[in-house]
Amino acid sequence: MSITQSNTGSEPYNYKVVRQFAIMTVVWGIVGMLVGVIIAAQMAFPELNLGLPWTHFGRLRPLHTNAVIFAFGGSALFASSYYVVQRTCQSKLFAPALAAFTFWGWQVVILSAAITLPLGLTTSKEYAELEWPIDILITLVWVSYAVVFFGTIAKRKTSHIYVANWFFAAFIVTVAVLHLVNSAAIPVSLFKSYSAYAGATDAMIQWWYGHNAVGFFLTAGFLGIMYYFVPKQAEQPIYSYRLSIVHFWALIAIYIWAGPHHLHYTALPDWAQSLGMVMSLMLLAPSWGGMINGMMTLSGAWDKLRTDPILRFLIVSLSFYGMSTFEGPMMSIKTVNSMSHYTDWTIGHVHSGALGWVAMISIGMLYHLIPRLWGKTEMYSIGLIALHFWMSTVGTVLYIASMWINGLMQGLMWRAYNTDGTLTYTFAQVVEASYPGYLVRLVGGFIFFSGMLVMAYNVFRTIRQTPEKETEQTPVEAVTGGASA
Ligand code: HEM
Ligand code: HEM
Repeated sequence: MSITQSNTGSEPYNYKVVRQFAIMTVVWGIVGMLVGVIIAAQMAFPELNLGLPWTHFGRLRPLHTNAVIFAFGGSALFASSYYVVQRTCQSKLFAPALAAFTFWGWQVVILSAAITLPLGLTTSKEYAELEWPIDILITLVWVSYAVVFFGTIAKRKTSHIYVANWFFAAFIVTVAVLHLVNSAAIPVSLFKSYSAYAGATDAMIQWWYGHNAVGFFLTAGFLGIMYYFVPKQAEQPIYSYRLSIVHFWALIAIYIWAGPHHLHYTALPDWAQSLGMVMSLMLLAPSWGGMINGMMTLSGAWDKLRTDPILRFLIVSLSFYGMSTFEGPMMSIKTVNSMSHYTDWTIGHVHSGALGWVAMISIGMLYHLIPRLWGKTEMYSIGLIALHFWMSTVGTVLYIASMWINGLMQGLMWRAYNTDGTLTYTFAQVVEASYPGYLVRLVGGFIFFSGMLVMAYNVFRTIRQTPEKETEQTPVEAVTGGASA
């Protein structure tokens, strides 16, 4: 069955767009992580910058972040939210033409990023680097996404809106607001614009955006994935539906205030920095509430972890989520941040969230979804999923452990000074001491990336298998309890 096959006919839901986004999640995962491996290699072997502006670290780094967050992560979110909203609302997608537009429009956004970023066309705002014409296209795609998603909720056949949809909804609405406010700019030519804000205001708005891109793009949306796919794969109802509601409101109410922890010891007013710190510390509670709710869903069925590598992906991703949301509040404490900021510790924190949480839950979700989307009983090889699981886990651990060691070492070396007040170490000495960590990170990143190739092969063979069963025809969604949805 081709991914562009029509969804009309016998399919109960619009799976065509879900299939398209699912395949592109794998493709963009490979591309984005390959660029990650290349820039990791450049950090260890600077000659790999090749002396060309287009292949330089400074241009490839935003290419990596855009590819992994918006292309890989974004496609995973589109695929899963379109799947979940249809099944839990027992309703086909509203406005299928707009849904198709979101797929093609998003691919054009990604290709535009892949062309403009290496050319050096950038707003220079982190995670919002794309220039204004691309920003306008993003807005059009996002509004269409909101229409399709909320339209489907509006025409649902169930009385209840399952909690996963609440998380997807918060992610869609908040990302729209963040994008519109932070990208406000004055264009001076087709590829150059200046931010509508200046100075400390610009910094504050940028990190209100940046932090909530983490909170809503890389967290709320993926929690939506967690609330549907963990109960489904575990074949158990969610541990506590009540906790999921408390988790939802607490998380979204607190996240939005935490941005200033990115601007400690800057020109931002001190009270705003302290407010950001306090809100970040409070964020530990809802984050862990969500993690515990996901993990405890396995209560009484922990043995499934021994035999089901898909469940292992989902549960281990939650433990990385727990780790990074413990670490984040700690790093937001001003005195801790005075050491961690500018060091590889931040990079370790980012990737315990990005690889351990975002990538691993997306991979688990795809292994659950792909056989169902193509009408197969299961993935071509469970053994290859288990192999992929270990490659991802080992890769993530090598990556984050090396960056933690580097980060602590850098922070300590930079602040060491002699009795006469001079610095104990030169910057070059710190770079030299970081070298082994960069090699280990490269190895870890390469292993994680290679796991994605194993996945691509497994997905390809699954889709090519002779059909063993038809795509589920009768939706048996009972929205409460999750496991039956
Ligand atoms: C094979 C996997 C990956 C490798 C080898 C890799 C490598 C890297 C490297 C070398 C950097 C630059 C670090 C620096 O400037 O010192 C980076 C930055 C970054 N990566 Fe990755 N990455 C991988 C996967 C991912 C994934 C899956 C995500 C998100 C879902 C992600 C998100 C980011 C972000 C947000 C940054 C910027 C961090 C910051 O500015 O503090 N990466 N990555
Ligand atoms: C309770 C939750 C969290 C809190 C309070 C938190 C807090 C922090 C802090 C304090 C920093 C360092 C800021 C700096 O020194 O510049 C940071 C950086 C970062 N965190 Fe988190 N974090 C949390 C969870 C996560 C998760 C789950 C992810 C990924 C999925 C993530 C992704 C990032 C990224 C990408 C950066 C680097 C931003 C940049 O400088 O480019 N965080 N976080």
